[in-house]
Amino acid sequence: MSEAVKYVLEASELHKWFGNVHAVNNVSLKLSRGEILSIVGPNGAGKTTLLNLLSGIVKPDKGRVYVYLNGDRKDITGRSPYYITFLGVGRSFQIPNIFDGLTVRDNIRLSILTYRRLINRFNRAYSSFNDVEEEVEKIIEIFSLEDSEYRYGRELSHGERKKLDIALSFAQQPNILLLDEPTSGLTYSEKLEMVELIRSLRREREVSFIVVEHDLDVVREVSDMLMVMHEGSVLAYDEPDEVVKMSEVISAYLGGEVI
Ligand SMILES: Nc1ncnc2c1ncn2[C@@H]1O[C@H](COP(=O)(O)OP(=O)(O)O)[C@@H](O)[C@H]1O
Ligand SMILES: [Mg+2]
Repeated sequence: MSEAVKYVLEASELHKWFGNVHAVNNVSLKLSRGEILSIVGPNGAGKTTLLNLLSGIVKPDKGRVYVYLNGDRKDITGRSPYYITFLGVGRSFQIPNIFDGLTVRDNIRLSILTYRRLINRFNRAYSSFNDVEEEVEKIIEIFSLEDSEYRYGRELSHGERKKLDIALSFAQQPNILLLDEPTSGLTYSEKLEMVELIRSLRREREVSFIVVEHDLDVVREVSDMLMVMHEGSVLAYDEPDEVVKMSEVISAYLGGEVI
């Protein structure tokens, strides 16, 4: 596979300062098609800021971000989150970003309508939205949200909210999903379900993932590549087995904080 076809996203020497805090310090990465890259590290390591830099929510002080489109590398540094979403980079949030006053179905429908730029066309015949309804059904099925489809966002359990948040990004047809702590606060069985969901989206839709996690155990098995961050810097970036070999050194260095 040629380089340009293989890769989907690249970051080169990213830096972000918040005042004196060097939140992201010289981070580079390359994500391949269908790859699951997990990023672990203690609180304050810079994981969320890195996802914000990749998705355009925060602008880097230095460094570049690229997506690969039809074999061409496109510089998206400093572009808006809205533009970056349309280039196929989806994003979920540590605190689920859903509408509490809408049902699960309506949340999903709204995400699809927004992505398709149909939101200002409600004066059209309802029948012209049939394919949107089919898409809503498909998303509900993929995310196993049948039990909660007519419930309001505010009535959902924490696990259902996390799942819906990812479903809303997925409804916008991403090639790449950036997930911020998708398993935090979930029960053990919900964690397994989330890992299986990520695997199936990769397998069936060829979605590539960057998954930010607190807990190395959750991601060790599912990841193709693993990055360990601490105080904004990359301590390790390799295949999981290699990183785990280094883990004793890393955890000694961090006083057991990460692993
Ligand atoms: N918007 C912000 N303004 C000021 N400081 C921030 C902001 N976002 C993050 N930080 C700081 O940057 C560092 C990295 O934070 P963050 O990326 O949230 O880490 P993580 O997600 O790994 O816990 C922390 O010291 C945090 O306090
Ligand atoms: Mg975070």
